[in-house]
Amino acid sequence: MSDHHDQNDNSTGHEWDGIRELKNPPPTWWAWGFYIGLIFVTGYYIIYPSTPLNNKIQEVVNGITGMEVLVDGHTKGIMALINSNPYYQGETWTQAEIDALKAKGHTDLTIKAGDMKYQSGWTAINEMRDDVAEIEAVREASMAKLASMSVDEILADDDMRQFALGRSIVLFGDNCAACHGSGGQGNLNDAHPELSFPNLTDDDWLFGGWAAKIQETITDGREASMPPKGGNDELTDADVDTLTTFVMALASGEAELNDDGELVKGSFAAANELFQENCAGCHGANAKGSMLNGDFDTGAVNLTDGIYRFGGDMATIRDTIAHGRTAMMPSFADRLDEVSIKILTVRVHEMGGGMAAEPEVE
Ligand code: HEC
Ligand code: HEC
Repeated sequence: MSDHHDQNDNSTGHEWDGIRELKNPPPTWWAWGFYIGLIFVTGYYIIYPSTPLNNKIQEVVNGITGMEVLVDGHTKGIMALINSNPYYQGETWTQAEIDALKAKGHTDLTIKAGDMKYQSGWTAINEMRDDVAEIEAVREASMAKLASMSVDEILADDDMRQFALGRSIVLFGDNCAACHGSGGQGNLNDAHPELSFPNLTDDDWLFGGWAAKIQETITDGREASMPPKGGNDELTDADVDTLTTFVMALASGEAELNDDGELVKGSFAAANELFQENCAGCHGANAKGSMLNGDFDTGAVNLTDGIYRFGGDMATIRDTIAHGRTAMMPSFADRLDEVSIKILTVRVHEMGGGMAAEPEVE
């Protein structure tokens, strides 16, 4: 290896294990980027607030330029000259601070103790505070308007309905999604049927899907109770099996009841007798559930539609009939204010199954 190197080979003469250091200029695009960056930084420095200054330097600069608007704790940039709107600083003046300013010779001050502090000149944080304050003002006005309207009125007013829906996302996520799912789609828990929660997006209601009823459900909660064996201890295991088969046949359409509880399809005479005696009181003679029979408080499920609260397999249905169910929807009266409950009512109503009004049941 030799130390000698040719002056024309574009090398610095340094070489490590065969790797040579060359003197190539940086690529043109890189150089341009560098110069443009320099210009940009200089421009930015002049236009926007940038360098923090201590009091001494501040006094000197102010003394020289005579323009206090340009420095005040930091250089404020020429944005301060272009746009000298007062921006909110988030603090208020104290009397001591005002006295100190007056002692310094600012005798023409119009501020009083308790006034908001303002800073002239543009800063990103001040602009953001301004924007937030503007949004807050609009939001507060809309919230006040919501408070004065009924849910039906909100539903009929496009703007307010949209506003309520917007506000409902976080409320629903925080208070309801754990049980009803993030989209309100409910949850059928095969392994633990007692931890199944109803779908709020369909039109299959337990208690009713018009605004006032939904509001009542959220406010007061619900406790639907299906007693073991419909409350009749004398039912045998065989009776429970018979009823299980019958309930499954009602859902699949193999058995059908009319409104008087008469079997109009299928040969389940004995099973229907058990049903009418022990179950019809809550689920209705036609087995269509309390709601479709005009009772909006019992929550007894429609057994004919094949939509299950707890699961439609034979073992789960048998378990429901043998051991009963006591699902509970918690009351939110103490946890949420009235406006929040209205907002959530709008959300549930608009999830897909909302009813216009209480249905007429003859
Ligand atoms: C701890 C679990 C739980 C939470 C939290 C919960 N729910 Fe429920 N919700 C239930 C259960 C269980 C039922 C069914 C009640 C029953 O079967 O007796 C229900 C029923 C309902 C119903 C009635 C549906 C119908 O078909 O009539 C509505 C409406 C409802 N919930 C809305 C909400 C809203 C809105 C929230 C949030 C504020 C919420 N729920 C929070 C468990 C919950
Ligand atoms: C006191 C009223 C009442 C009686 C009597 C009653 N049920 Fe129920 N049943 C309910 C209620 C309420 C529910 C919903 C329970 C819940 O949401 O916690 C229910 C739920 C059910 C379910 C679950 C359906 C699903 O979608 O998962 C079945 C099955 C059922 N009942 C069958 C019967 C049978 C069969 C009888 C007669 C032996 C009977 N019930 C008697 C009130 C009653």
